Amino acid sequence: MRKWPIVILFLSLSVHAQPLQNIQILKGLTRPEVQRVMNEMRAGLDVHCHFCHAADDTHGASDVKPQKAKAREMIRMVMDLNARNFGGKPVVTCFTCHNGHPRPATIPPLPQAVPPDTVEVPAKVFPSVTSIIQKYVAAVGRELTPTTSRVLKGTHKSPTGPQVQITVADNGEKLRGDIQLPDGTLLSQAYDGTAGWIRDKSGVHDMQPDDLVNARMSRRAFAPFYTSAIGDDAHVVDSEKIGDHNAWIVEASNARYWFDTGSGLLLRRVAYFNSPVGRIPEQTDFDDYRDAGAQKLPFLIRVALVDPWSGGTRQWESIQVGAAIAPEEFEKPQG
Ligand code: HEC
Ligand code: HEC
Repeated sequence: MRKWPIVILFLSLSVHAQPLQNIQILKGLTRPEVQRVMNEMRAGLDVHCHFCHAADDTHGASDVKPQKAKAREMIRMVMDLNARNFGGKPVVTCFTCHNGHPRPATIPPLPQAVPPDTVEVPAKVFPSVTSIIQKYVAAVGRELTPTTSRVLKGTHKSPTGPQVQITVADNGEKLRGDIQLPDGTLLSQAYDGTAGWIRDKSGVHDMQPDDLVNARMSRRAFAPFYTSAIGDDAHVVDSEKIGDHNAWIVEASNARYWFDTGSGLLLRRVAYFNSPVGRIPEQTDFDDYRDAGAQKLPFLIRVALVDPWSGGTRQWESIQVGAAIAPEEFEKPQG
């Protein structure tokens, strides 16, 4: 089975594949969503797709491998476990038991060391979420609103592809990306949340339904952070080191945020998305904060997904905040 899909940019260049053929449980999901679920399972067991899919099965529909049948049983079990025991919340995933092994350890290792006597550990003291957010806003100077337009120029490096030059024009609603491909040609893509177009060597096409799902998923992973994402129910759960930085971990309903205890800046966001096989994480690291107009913005964005072929690193060279973007930029070109 080939690596799939080849995401070089903020959209994958999806092959316009036929509809899914042999889905018995994961019904109602689009192909990119099935893809993500597959990678959640793959990551849970730390295997390649071939572990369950025959090497010559280019579409994934064949049922020749017993591991695939076993995986179907396991998907049913996970759905059942979550429905019965966790109020339908997608708490248990393949990783819960497998922990990155095809065969989970089912019994504790022997011999067992005598555990140390319990010592009282003083409870950690955390600052309030409000003070963390205030410190963040003070650190960046001021917060942009989602409708502030911006033009970002720099490079994009996907995990397996070459580094490419990329320009993104974003007015909060519409997004356009222009990418200089290694062969010298230009690839342009624009997307407004519901529709989009692609211009490549072969001409101009409308985005197909799978492209739109890919575009939405990619846009959300690289999306900027706004403090409004952290609701009233958020709380500080712990502190942790990320690289050389100490960070407070703020837990909101669908994401966790790591704020630098020193500088106050946001270092990491991990958003969770529900799926039939449990919550799927999407990690975005924000780094290299620099002045861009009246505020500091992260010039380095790193996205890590359960799909190791997707995601990637964007290093911006310039970010123009409030840039005037002509409406024609987003319109589908003729021919
Ligand atoms: C742990 C086993 C397992 C792994 C690993 C796995 N798959 Fe699957 N895959 C399945 C099962 C089970 C189904 C069928 C799901 C169903 O019936 O709802 C499936 C279905 C699919 C389908 C739908 C095919 C069709 O048309 O019916 C595709 C595509 C697919 N897998 C691709 C992949 C890719 C790509 C990877 C690696 C990133 C992968 N799978 C990894 C078990 C696995
Ligand atoms: C509640 C714990 C648990 C969860 C959750 C779980 N598994 Fe398993 N899985 C096991 C155990 C235990 C075995 C080994 C069973 C055995 O040896 O007979 C196993 C075996 C397997 C095997 C066979 C491995 C082999 O080498 O033959 C596959 C494939 C598998 N699981 C896939 C999955 C997938 C995919 C998920 C998530 C959808 C999942 N499992 C979730 C406990 C779990």
